[in-house]
Amino acid sequence: MINIPKGTKDVLPSESRKWQYAEGKLRGVAALYNAHEIRTPTFEHTELFVRSIGDETDVVSKEMYTFEDKGGRSITLRPEGTAPVARSYVENSLDSMSLPLKTYYIISAFRYERPQAGRLREFHQFGAEVYGATSPYLDLDCISFAYDALRALGLKNIRLKLNSIGCAECRKKYVDALRGYFAGHLDEMCATCRERYGRNALRLLDCKNPECKKIAEGAPVILDYLCDDCRAHHDKLCSLLDSSGIPYEIDPGIVRGLDYYTRTVFEFVTEELGAQGTVLGGGRYDDLVESIGGKPTGCVGFAMGMERALMLMEKQGVDFGEDRLDVFVISQSPELAGDCMAIVSDLRRAGVSADTEMTGRSMKAQFKYADKQRARFAVVIGGNELESGRVKIKRLSDGKEEECGISEIAARVKETI
Ligand code: HAM
Repeated sequence: MINIPKGTKDVLPSESRKWQYAEGKLRGVAALYNAHEIRTPTFEHTELFVRSIGDETDVVSKEMYTFEDKGGRSITLRPEGTAPVARSYVENSLDSMSLPLKTYYIISAFRYERPQAGRLREFHQFGAEVYGATSPYLDLDCISFAYDALRALGLKNIRLKLNSIGCAECRKKYVDALRGYFAGHLDEMCATCRERYGRNALRLLDCKNPECKKIAEGAPVILDYLCDDCRAHHDKLCSLLDSSGIPYEIDPGIVRGLDYYTRTVFEFVTEELGAQGTVLGGGRYDDLVESIGGKPTGCVGFAMGMERALMLMEKQGVDFGEDRLDVFVISQSPELAGDCMAIVSDLRRAGVSADTEMTGRSMKAQFKYADKQRARFAVVIGGNELESGRVKIKRLSDGKEEECGISEIAARVKETI
């Protein structure tokens, strides 16, 4: 037997309903926010991710699925959606559309991580990216979009953590302060941190090694180093959030694991999923579009981990509804299969979901199967029914029967669903 690759999952027929339920809700919220779906390829040129996410990040330095294609190009399966959407924005001159432009996506993404509950090598994200505005009102709109998306899934007890990591200018001063702090601790830190110290000291803040984490807790806080403009942006967003009624807390420890962020960064976290408690993360990235060849463009976005959201929905007892079949047509004998299939075919064309027996099983077995399919009604077809053109529709929940013509089944069923 060939097994599924480590860190990937099948969505079985019995589970797909949950995904469709969640995706439907999320698409509904996207429409309310005037966001339009964008679909980009599953793979991109490796350079896109190296340039945008940053080569010192865990994602780029350790986790990418990178390979050379048969034409000798370096290709990477997307580890996230922000960089591909930005690439598409620049390549398709989407700035010529009226701005701000709001996009959303539901994608699979790939990261070579150590798999555990809520952490996969192929996972899925619902994300949104908004282009063309530096105003903190857009940050608020984006956070509110994320908040409403989580609420539409029926999720509770999720906290919003907010921070600002400033712009390139104020970050320079901050990185100097960080270097000053970490210099005294380097020999207690891991090899990767020691290596990153000189090149990208900000990454020392999100090392997962417990020793390094403890040291990082005492590091200077970026909020104390913001320039006037970044401070004003952050203060305005906080006051907008205060009046919006979306609860939040400032957490200077939120720096995000990707290099493209500027100013606002945020995460929605839960305590109910153990170590993988970040259900959604996002922020502003005003320098990204320019760094990949576009014009300077204010952008803000987020992505929700679908697997984590679904795990939490299950934990919190969200009702996903159920797949049901409207009618199962029971065939009294195998010779009538063709007639039963004709009836089923008319029902489907009339918009009623229907199925029938095709393997010659007994009527008892067919009733059992109809129950398993959660059929609402069963209709038994025998010689008499075909001759008279009249059938009994049986409601399977309570056994109640009603008579009607074969051609009226669809209308009768529709009246009751
Ligand atoms: P991220 O924090 O890397 O941000 O991922 C967003 C979410 O995807 C996480 O909060 C988590 O729920 C989920 N996730 C990440 N990695 C895994 C994994 N290995 N297994 C399962 N779920 C995972 C981004 O990807 C940014 N592109 C978000 C963004 C959009 N920022 C601005 N726009």
